[in-house]
Amino acid sequence: MTSPIWQPFTQMKTAPPPLKVVSGKGILLELEDGRQIMDCISSWWVTLHGHSHPVLAEALYTQAQTLEQVIFAGFTHEPAEQLAAQLLTHLPPNLTRVFFSDNGSTAVEVALKMAYQYWQRQGETQRTRFLGFEGGYHGDTVGAMSIGQGSLWWQSFAPLLFHTDLIPFPATFPGDPALATREAEALAKLEHLLQTQGECYAGIFIEPLVQGAGGMRMCRPQFLQALAQLTRPYGVLLIYDEVMTGFGRTGELFACLKSTTAPDLICLSKGLSGGCLPLAVTVATEAIYQAFYQDDATQAFYHSHSYTGNPLACATGLASLALLAETPNRYRRLEKLHWQGYQDWLQNCPAIEHFRVCGTISAMEIKTHKDPGYYSQLGSLLKARFLEAGFLMRPLGNTLYLMPPYCITSTQIDAVYKAIAHILSEI
Ligand SMILES: Cc1ncc(COP(=O)(O)O)c(C=O)c1O
Repeated sequence: MTSPIWQPFTQMKTAPPPLKVVSGKGILLELEDGRQIMDCISSWWVTLHGHSHPVLAEALYTQAQTLEQVIFAGFTHEPAEQLAAQLLTHLPPNLTRVFFSDNGSTAVEVALKMAYQYWQRQGETQRTRFLGFEGGYHGDTVGAMSIGQGSLWWQSFAPLLFHTDLIPFPATFPGDPALATREAEALAKLEHLLQTQGECYAGIFIEPLVQGAGGMRMCRPQFLQALAQLTRPYGVLLIYDEVMTGFGRTGELFACLKSTTAPDLICLSKGLSGGCLPLAVTVATEAIYQAFYQDDATQAFYHSHSYTGNPLACATGLASLALLAETPNRYRRLEKLHWQGYQDWLQNCPAIEHFRVCGTISAMEIKTHKDPGYYSQLGSLLKARFLEAGFLMRPLGNTLYLMPPYCITSTQIDAVYKAIAHILSEI
């Protein structure tokens, strides 16, 4: 019997049937047919410490016996209080207020609504528009798609969305001869928009250092510093979508720390619960919080989800933060291992270009004469070949990337790069 399940981001008519996973341990997933595959993409970028991590499992079990869920309006609980307090110790000190929600898209929706309402409360009611980046992706809800009009998947819903002004993202790679021009062009376009209509913008959204779904496109920390400097005088709120880049992915705990920049709002999810359960936060400055802190009940921030601040997710989040703090070298060492893999197996491979690394993430373009981009047939072909060889990869079209859980060993990373070299030599 065929399954009644309608899968996400999948053309159900042409995609092969989904593979049933029976268990996961560390970097390995075990399939129903007994095969083991190496999860090279942390199961859509969430699994930080490896599958079925005993510390997270213990935290979940202990919490489940105490309090599994409670309404979060008018009530609170220790795991949420502790997680919020501990998160703040790791973030830039201007971020002081933690608003919980459930996933990356809701974290973005919350930031969007907070930024918009903040300006309404300030009496700057003309600040109703947002800026974003070409290639930017912020989630699949309607607001997040509007901000993410630089990505590919929103077009079918265009009439439902609001307009966002887009800035080119200065994606770069080592040895990039056009880097300076690209950064200057991006800043010039932004400056022009700010000079001509700066008072109309409520905020600017960016995936700092790495655009994920847009093709693992990486920019320099210096670009974020220039961006922050440019937007400040115009009052436009700087909003970092660190849903993917958070919790060690860029080699530092957060991209804002790596770039020494301090946004007004930051969106976190994916790795927040260690990759165990859906959980998100949007963290705001005191000024934003105070704009809603009034005697008038109508001025509160009216946004919530049923599972907001779920105790189980918060408990695994706390356990995950502790693991990250105890073993920062786990994520810090990966940048070197990626470069080692590249040098040992790929640097003379004629099929690849623009190899780049940011912390735990590496990416490369596979050269193709026809249909480059997300819908490239090459992506599906590569995915199938890697699976046959025992690796879970999900290329973004002809962009191949690795974003493994932090427990991956140097031998395992070496095996992945060896497999890439081998498979590329075959096709
Ligand atoms: C940068 C970024 N923002 C937001 C999202 C949306 O997160 P979610 O899929 O949890 O809604 C994603 C998902 O990949 C993302 O990479």
